[in-house]
Amino acid sequence: MISFTLNDKPIKVDADPKMPLLWALRDLLDMTGTKYGCGIAQCGACTVHMDGTPIRSCVMPLATIAGKNITTIEGLPSDASHPIQQAWLEHNVPQCGYCQSGQIMSAVALLESNPNPDDAAIDDAMQGNICRCGTYPRIKAAIKDAAKNVSTTNVDFSLAKNAGEKA
Ligand code: FES
Ligand code: FES
Repeated sequence: MISFTLNDKPIKVDADPKMPLLWALRDLLDMTGTKYGCGIAQCGACTVHMDGTPIRSCVMPLATIAGKNITTIEGLPSDASHPIQQAWLEHNVPQCGYCQSGQIMSAVALLESNPNPDDAAIDDAMQGNICRCGTYPRIKAAIKDAAKNVSTTNVDFSLAKNAGEKA
């Protein structure tokens, strides 16, 4: 039995400790917002946060996440009030949408660690998230707008705070 915290709730999973977190999320816990792309840590579709840091859940064994705080796309506010969600909507970022939960989780982690990233910082943080539809220009514009909105409104980027407020 592996115990961890998933989107602010304590979870126990009865599974092989070698099972990748992505499998447990999708097949055992019905958390299907996190996507399977490559399975080898090369595309970013499966990105979630572990203790606030973005990780590739397709290569993260359950044994490694015991006792950790895991946040998935479902941990963002259900009313889309997080600045990154707002910016994604304003810029109509998704095309097919498949990569987008991973993109959003990487962008949220970036702004939590660096609320005012320059182009190089955005490229560096987002380079592991592949989008076959080529939404990269909209992703970058949305991240910049979210950062600008926060700097002018003093909105708190903290996902933990926002997630705690969600219904
Ligand atoms: S599915 Fe995990 S990085 Fe591609
Ligand atoms: S929106 Fe289609 S893969 Fe990114």
